[in-house]
Amino acid sequence: MKKDLFDLTDRVTIITGGAGQLGQQHAEVIAGAGGIPVLADIHLDEVDPRSPAFKEHFGQQACAIQTDITSPKSVRTLLEDVLKRYGRVDVLINNAANNPKMEKTAEVEFSRLENFPLKQWEADLSVGLTGAFLCSQVIGTEMAKQKRGVIVNVASDLAVIAPDQRLYRKAGLPADQQPVKPVTYSVVKTGLIGLTRYLATYWAEAGIRVNAISPGGVYNNQPDEFVSRLANLIPLGRMAIADEYQAAILFLCSDASSYMTGTNLVIDGGRSCW
Ligand SMILES: NC(=O)c1ccc[n+]([C@@H]2O[C@H](COP(=O)([O-])OP(=O)(O)OC[C@H]3O[C@@H](n4cnc5c(N)ncnc54)[C@H](O)[C@@H]3O)[C@@H](O)[C@H]2O)c1
Repeated sequence: MKKDLFDLTDRVTIITGGAGQLGQQHAEVIAGAGGIPVLADIHLDEVDPRSPAFKEHFGQQACAIQTDITSPKSVRTLLEDVLKRYGRVDVLINNAANNPKMEKTAEVEFSRLENFPLKQWEADLSVGLTGAFLCSQVIGTEMAKQKRGVIVNVASDLAVIAPDQRLYRKAGLPADQQPVKPVTYSVVKTGLIGLTRYLATYWAEAGIRVNAISPGGVYNNQPDEFVSRLANLIPLGRMAIADEYQAAILFLCSDASSYMTGTNLVIDGGRSCW
């Protein structure tokens, strides 16, 4: 095998939602392969680009740029800033999404389809789907000019299966008040697979590869009952550890996946094959 297939030396990689739980994991593996992660997030409280810890985790050249991916202006400013700092952009990871933790929240009634507020529908689609479209449009167009680039869309196992609403049931609540995974999560994640196929074919001749990754649930101190119910639905018998998607992200971002485009890489402990 050629030694440098996974090498990302100096490849500038914009990660939306880069300050979140998985965004930081993506940034870390990009940096580890020699790339330059740009953490683009609306909330930068979780990362301080001036701290020694930031450089330690994400490399000397990494940066964090406050960005609202639902705003075309903010996304254009992000690209301008990146081009000013580094002169080009090589990889875009569309990772940001509203990520409702139904297993943790007490206010659950709104989640049911019958009550789901239009405002929430619009907000969720705006981040998860419109945000990915805008970033792809603005940053992908720049990559097309360069005749080279990679886009990775972060979907979910819920892009390929329906949520099992039994996971979220709470004892003592009547059926019509039981919490559910909101409809928007399925719609956003399935929509991202469509966006992946569209962009992969649209920009194939421009040298841009576009793939999706569909992770299963990551353990993050969820209630024990939820964790054991979910583990029962997963052939490998457990939730993912946060760093278990790093290798797949590196594969999709690097030349190791040079003959792969328009595909969805499902990494879910086997959940979707049961
Ligand atoms: N954690 C999981 O179990 C899991 C499983 C499958 C898929 N995913 C997907 O992985 C991705 C990352 O998940 P996570 O667990 O790290 O979520 P997270 O909530 O920790 O991170 C999401 C980040 O997106 C940012 N964001 C929200 N709106 C934004 C906007 N308008 N502009 C820019 N940034 C914005 C948030 O500030 C946050 O830092 C999401 O797309 C999620 O759906 C996560």
